[in-house]
Amino acid sequence: MPTYFKKINVENKISQSIFKKQRIGLVPTMGALHRGHLSLIEKAFNENDVVWVSIFINPTQFNNSNDLINYPKNLKNDELLIKKISKSIEIFSPNEFEIYGENPKIKKYDFKTIENELEGRFRKNHFSGVATIVSKLLSLFKPNNVYFGEKDYQQTQIIKKLISLEKINVNLNICPTVREKNGLALSSRNNFLSNSERNDSYIIYKSLIQLKNNFNTSNLISTKKEIKNNINKKKNFQLEYLEIADASTLKIQSEINPKNTYRAFICVRVNDIRLIDNILLN
Ligand code: PAF
Repeated sequence: MPTYFKKINVENKISQSIFKKQRIGLVPTMGALHRGHLSLIEKAFNENDVVWVSIFINPTQFNNSNDLINYPKNLKNDELLIKKISKSIEIFSPNEFEIYGENPKIKKYDFKTIENELEGRFRKNHFSGVATIVSKLLSLFKPNNVYFGEKDYQQTQIIKKLISLEKINVNLNICPTVREKNGLALSSRNNFLSNSERNDSYIIYKSLIQLKNNFNTSNLISTKKEIKNNINKKKNFQLEYLEIADASTLKIQSEINPKNTYRAFICVRVNDIRLIDNILLN
């Protein structure tokens, strides 16, 4: 179908679904689907009357143009994987013009520490770009349920805040991270790892578990140092950050108050590929 009809087609189908009181589920993605995405789509399929998967590589969330150009694309395969779950699942794969018009514009939000800490320190405006596209998708699809993976925990908290700031009527479903056998969190970016880097990347999740196991002891600083040394010893691996942050404000914490809830966040650079993960600590 010509791309400029796609959005009109969605609007018509969504109006019909609302008229028929169907529950609408939305799974926003940037494609290059893996088992993590498929688990979200399966959950959406089990919980809604109609399911839409959007596939759109959103330019406004990339602060590095090479990263945007090189982002993995495989629309044909994505469509096959989705249709294997059910032929009834709808796919929306617009082009940039259809979403943004001539001039992709980012909407500037103020998400405070949720935006500026952790990934925010390394990816300027990334989360405003994510919020810009998610806001557009939620207003187009008017879903009852929207689904995201917990691997991008900071992103889920941004979307939670967006929903509350814009008073959007939708249930936010945050679903467990899906992992390789060795613990590596699934990500479209894993496609860029060599076999040996993929094998070595077990160290990322193992480090999070090590930090969790030491969370109630006083030697957190030495545990962090040990983790950094172990990661940096691996060929092409460099620890970008390993932080403990408050689970709701994402403020980085050095002092721990047992009454609060904390998560550990890690980013490891393997050559130019940034791999992130996180874990609940208490
Ligand atoms: O997590 C992603 O794939 C993207 O950030 C999202 C939520 C689809 C917005 O472009």
